[in-house]
Amino acid sequence: MRISVLTSGGDAPGMNAAIRAVVRRGISRGADVFGIYRGYDGLLDGEINRMNLSSVADIIHRGGTILHTARSERFMRPEGQDLGAARIRGAGIDGLVVIGGEGSFRGMIELEKRGVRTIGVPGTIDNDIWGTDYSIGFDTAVNTGVEAVNRLRDTATSHERIFVVEVMGRKAGFLALAVGVAGGAESIMIPEIPLSVEEVCARLERGIARGKKHSIIVVAEGAASGLEVGQKIEKCMGTEVRVTVLGHVQRGGTPTAFDRLLASRMGAKAVDLLLEGKSGLVLGIHGDTIVANPAEEVVSKQKEIDRELYEMAEDLAR
Ligand code: F6P
Repeated sequence: MRISVLTSGGDAPGMNAAIRAVVRRGISRGADVFGIYRGYDGLLDGEINRMNLSSVADIIHRGGTILHTARSERFMRPEGQDLGAARIRGAGIDGLVVIGGEGSFRGMIELEKRGVRTIGVPGTIDNDIWGTDYSIGFDTAVNTGVEAVNRLRDTATSHERIFVVEVMGRKAGFLALAVGVAGGAESIMIPEIPLSVEEVCARLERGIARGKKHSIIVVAEGAASGLEVGQKIEKCMGTEVRVTVLGHVQRGGTPTAFDRLLASRMGAKAVDLLLEGKSGLVLGIHGDTIVANPAEEVVSKQKEIDRELYEMAEDLAR
């Protein structure tokens, strides 16, 4: 059997560990493994190369993706999807592992409709994919965000300042919620649970009345602009506020052990499923069990935010 692997959409720490697992499990089980470069864009351009055991040496600890990635406009059109499927058939490839987020799985579904056997592996720092507790890269991004908050807390304490920290996550608040809870933020603004700046200010006032000298407000990029929130807080509190936008810093860095483990297990499982003749599935983890859900279900359902965790964070931030 000839199988292939690509990474698509925003990169995430741990993608390399997943690629390594696909290549090495595939070769161990007697398959020929091919890497497709630059996501679906590279597929359309025929950038498909045979990989061997050493192609993935020394990458388990590296952030980013050695296969590179893209958000392909061309592949969103039916003509692009036809060409993509033709490229895979032309290379004599029987199966494809797609490592990415929801948009990548939508593309994968189109290839499946055109006869390509596919398995999806969730890789995104946003952790917004239905059917999995965790996606590859989330744990590393949470740790990066918390490390940043720790550092900001040092200077916030020294200057007795309010800091607003804007966290990535696209339209979802999973990353911001985790960073906010683990970083001990005073308020967490996420798109799923509305919280007005007025309420944030009221909490800040209560904190100051109790003797709090500094505060950290975590804002998910999908909820509001950190800069605007900072300006509004300056107005309502009548004091200076500093804003830090973490941005792409959260997408880089060496993956945590958790992400490497998750990526290794999912990459190997994706190969096993392809070799068993399965297709059209996206992997996930529930508790400690790797599961596989129909790709159509994964892209059509929305992952729910943990409201209990959010409410707990409010109690703990008092
Ligand atoms: O999906 C991952 C992510 O980092 C989001 O959190 C963010 O909104 C987006 O990608 C940024 O995309 P780009 O790298 O294209 O600016």
